[in-house]
Amino acid sequence: MNVILLGAPGAGKGTQATRIASRYNLPHISTGDIFRANINDRTEIGVLAKSYIDKGQLVPDEVTCQIVEGRLAEKDCENGYLLDGFPRTIPQAEELEKFNKIDCVINIDIDFSYLMERLCGRRVCKDCGESYHVSKLNGKTDCAKCGGELYQRKDDNPETVQSRLRVYENQTAPLIDYYTRKGVIVNVAGEGTPEEVFALIVKALDAIK
Ligand code: AP5
Repeated sequence: MNVILLGAPGAGKGTQATRIASRYNLPHISTGDIFRANINDRTEIGVLAKSYIDKGQLVPDEVTCQIVEGRLAEKDCENGYLLDGFPRTIPQAEELEKFNKIDCVINIDIDFSYLMERLCGRRVCKDCGESYHVSKLNGKTDCAKCGGELYQRKDDNPETVQSRLRVYENQTAPLIDYYTRKGVIVNVAGEGTPEEVFALIVKALDAIK
């Protein structure tokens, strides 16, 4: 099963991706995580990606598509995968279509009013990538799952979040129509608790399995 998770920044893609990957035994491929790993390792791609990500802009399609194509050619993707944060533009979707068939696009649909608070309050584990909201941490600074140190992403500040939301509206939201026309999209309400959102996603994915 080849699945795409679509949604605005902060809609809960990463939160749901961990759960989906584990339930359906799919490799979780997050282009954001791939770029951040490259930034940490100071690779050439990392240096380039950082210059866009820090401004809340998209990394150029050509670079992003090459990375994803390479990743999807790996053995663990033979029986399916979960794409989180890709495609993010129509050209990326068209490119993906050239080498892969998509079975389902889960669009996490959420009112923008939730997103600023979610993103600016997010804390992420440096070691396992688990994300938390500061309001639920009771002052804790380490990960409940693995004990790793929690940090705030550099692009989770009000100014960059505004820019990410604008970019989403202009460049990514058109993918909703694109996949609706192809008849593969399922819209899921993202305002509930993570468990409630996950239950809606499971219902959608079980129906196409
Ligand atoms: P990426 O890392 O993909 O960031 P994003 O799309 O902006 O999404 P986020 O990770 O910020 O949010 P999310 O939807 O995963 O929410 P989360 O589950 O963490 O991309 C970063 C950058 O890389 C981009 O800006 C771009 O520059 C570049 N990039 C990546 N892919 C690219 C591509 N294809 N092309 C070009 N450039 C690309 O949740 C957020 C918070 O809310 C957390 O604190 C969480 O605990 C909380 N939360 C989650 N669900 C709920 C819920 N149901 N109720 C209450 N709180 C919740």
